[in-house]
Formats: sequence, structure tokens, C-alpha cells
Amino acid sequence: MDKFSIEGGLPLEGEIAVSGAKNSGLPALAACLLTAEPVTLRRVPAVRDIQTMKRLLRYTGATVSDEADGSIRVEAREVSRPEAPYEVVKTMRASSLVLGPLAARTGRARVSLPGGCAIGARPINLHVFALEQLGAVIEQSHGYIEAQSPGGLKGRHIRFERITVTGTEDLLMAAVLAEGETVLENAAREPEVVDLAEMLIKMGARIEGAGSPVIRVEGVERLHGTEHTIIPDRIEAGTFLIGGVITAGDLTIRGCEPEHLRALIDKVREAGAAVDEQGEGTLRVRGTHRLRSVDVTTQEHPGFATDLQAQYMALMTQADGISIITETIFENRFMHALELMRMGANIRLDGRRAYVAGKRPLSGAAVIASDLRASASLVLAALVAKGETIVDRVYHIDRGYEKIEEKLASVGARIRRVESK
Ligand code: EPU
Repeated sequence: MDKFSIEGGLPLEGEIAVSGAKNSGLPALAACLLTAEPVTLRRVPAVRDIQTMKRLLRYTGATVSDEADGSIRVEAREVSRPEAPYEVVKTMRASSLVLGPLAARTGRARVSLPGGCAIGARPINLHVFALEQLGAVIEQSHGYIEAQSPGGLKGRHIRFERITVTGTEDLLMAAVLAEGETVLENAAREPEVVDLAEMLIKMGARIEGAGSPVIRVEGVERLHGTEHTIIPDRIEAGTFLIGGVITAGDLTIRGCEPEHLRALIDKVREAGAAVDEQGEGTLRVRGTHRLRSVDVTTQEHPGFATDLQAQYMALMTQADGISIITETIFENRFMHALELMRMGANIRLDGRRAYVAGKRPLSGAAVIASDLRASASLVLAALVAKGETIVDRVYHIDRGYEKIEEKLASVGARIRRVESK
């Protein structure tokens, strides 16, 4: 297992580029199963979860190729095995994104139930509920969900009891080929949902309202191939933004979408950092050694993203005063707090709340990454810690960040990958 060795104390300075969004690339790849024609996807990040999804598409019978220009071409001429096996699902929960497209395209889907996860239970009951509403007959046995819809799916009026991002995406991908109209209430409004809807519309789908709480879909008989460019990764951009602030650096972030980062930008400005929105997807952030503590509560988009909570907590260890961080999306997403404490942070956990008392000097230590965003939080803390931090299990970070050590090193961080023998 690879590790990162990080020597803290240097400001991040210069320009850093943002990759395509992992959480958009995943549903976009799943959506390729909806058509027999080829689809070309651009700006898909080369991260491990994307490799896993490509493997899953190949398993179902699709041809997936990496083109010379960096794009990915998928052709699901035939879907011979409409199945997501346990071996794949156990390493990536987002595999449940193929449930909707497989059922819509082939009338059959068999998807392994994901197990527990470091950040919470993360059931997929709402995905199942949505497909049942569209008329699929669903059975659960031997750890698998089996959906059958031999007569095709039928559009319905559906309301999710709670907002789910991949659940909304899964339903969208099923409804585009269902007969008649589907109305989804309480839909997720994340930019990744909008990106998927835009791709599906280019494929011939009829969708209105993506980005709002009510999405309307008028089913069509078939979809065709397309080309689509994935949106920038707002969580990667947000991680870099926090990196610029926490190191009191001067960092220019290129190729991002500031509107997708509004809640974070507001918070770091309130904390005392200067963020200039320079147009054309460029943000310049200048940090300060005199940060103020600012409370945060995670919410669905456009609220403060749960995927930035861990990184923000690292930042608050360096702000004056006590900040209260409330996690409302996942029930167990504070594993990073315990590791941050090993580096000297003063954090008290109380259920879904973390009380972070700053400003505490951090010192390098051996820490363990428990999930993707927790790892990013530890890397950020290490950038300001005195001495060397070893972050173990960086395979978590490789799931969702493209060459993060190279990108950070290019703006002044002393970070290197220590490969396991
Ligand atoms: N939930 C249910 N039943 C369901 C689905 C969700 O109870 O059927 C609950 C979850 O347990 C959670 C809440 O609803 O408490 C919200 O979960 P959601 O379904 O929105 O999460 P997700 O779709 O599984 C996506 C991202 C996550 C991100 C969340 C929240 C992808 C591939 N994953 O997960 O990203 O944290 O939305 O924004 O889009 C990450 O990138 O590190 C990551 C975990």
C-alpha cells in the first residue's frame, strides 16, 4: 500500500489545474449503457473509481477504449451480462448507478448490494424504490438486487423521501427510456445531476428541471450516441482552495466552476481569506495566518458539501476560536477528526457535531486515511504541520484525486509518494 510523505510549512503558490469531476464521470459512464451507439466522454479524470466503472462496463459486454486525445469511447452495442458483481461493487459503491440503465435498456439488472462504508450505512433502498415505482419487479437474494421489467418501465410521479444524488441519477437513467412521463420530486440539485441530464438530452432524452427539486422526464424509445465533456471537479477545486488558505499561500486555481463552490467560497471569505473570481473558470485565493473560526453545517447542494467537510475541519484547526461543524448527510463522517487529533488538533465530537478549537499548532505524525475525503483532510493538515507526516492507505485518495501529489508538489508542497514494495 502506497503512502504519502509530507513535510509541512510551505505556502502553496502558483497555478494548479482542476480535473474533470469523478462524481460526474461515474454516472456519465453508466449512461453509456443506455444506447447501442458509441459515446465519447471528455475530461473524465484518471482516478481509480473511474477505472473500476470502466471495468464494470466491460463486464456487461460494452467496449471501452482510451483514445489518444485523452477521451474515453464506450460502445455498448450489446449488453450481454446486465450485472454488477460483488467483486466490483465492494470496491466502489457508485456501481449501483448501473441499476437504472441496465433495467431500462435490457429489462433486467442484477447488482450486488453494497456493504457498509466508512462514512455511514449508505443503503440503496431509494434506488430500489424508484425502480419499483417505474414498474420493475425487484427481489433481493444472495446479496444481490435483481430487477426485472420485461414489459418495459412506465413513467410515474415519484417523490424521494430524502434527497439522494446517485438515486436521482439512477432514476433519471431509468426514466429516459420508460414509457410516458416521470416526475421526480425532491430531486438532488447537485451540478453532477445537471451534467448527467445535459448529456442524456444530447443523447435524445427529454428532461426538464434538472438542477431544481422537480425533474420531469418524457420517455423516448431509444437514445443515440453523443460526445460530452464532464464538468470540473468541484470537490478537488475546493480541496485546493482550502490548501491555499490553510498554508497562507497565493494559489490560482484554473479550470473550475466557482458557482459550484459558492458555499465554500462564502465560508473561507468569512474566515478571512481573499478569493478573487477572475472569470473563465479561474479563482485566486490568498490565505492568511489570522483565520477566524466559522461554523459549517453540511447540506445538499447548494448547501455546504459533505465532501468538503473533512478538508474544512483541517482548516478550522488553524482558525482562532471554536468552530462547530455539523454533518447532516452521513452519520459517521468524522473519522478524520481522530487522526487530526493525533497531529495535535483540539476537537471534541458529540454525535453529528464536531467542536474544533483553534488555533493549534499541528505536528507531523503517522496517520491513516479512512476514506477519500478524510485522506484529503489529512494531506491538508500535513501541509501546515511541523515535520513529516506519513499518510497511510492513500489508495483511498487515488479513488478520487488525479495525481494529487504531483499537482500539489507543482505549487510548492513537499509531498512524495512512497510506493510499497
Ligand atoms: N440514502 C438512503 N437511501 C438511499 C440512498 C441514500 O438512505 O437509497 C441516504 C445516505 O445513506 C445518505 C444520504 O441519503 O445518508 C445521502 O446520500 P446520497 O445518496 O446523496 O449519496 P450517494 O449518491 O451515495 C454521492 C456522492 C458522494 C457524496 C454524496 C452526498 C457519487 C458517486 N457519490 O453519494 O461522494 O458524498 O453523494 O453528496 O456521486 C465522495 O466523492 O467522496 C463521495 C462520498
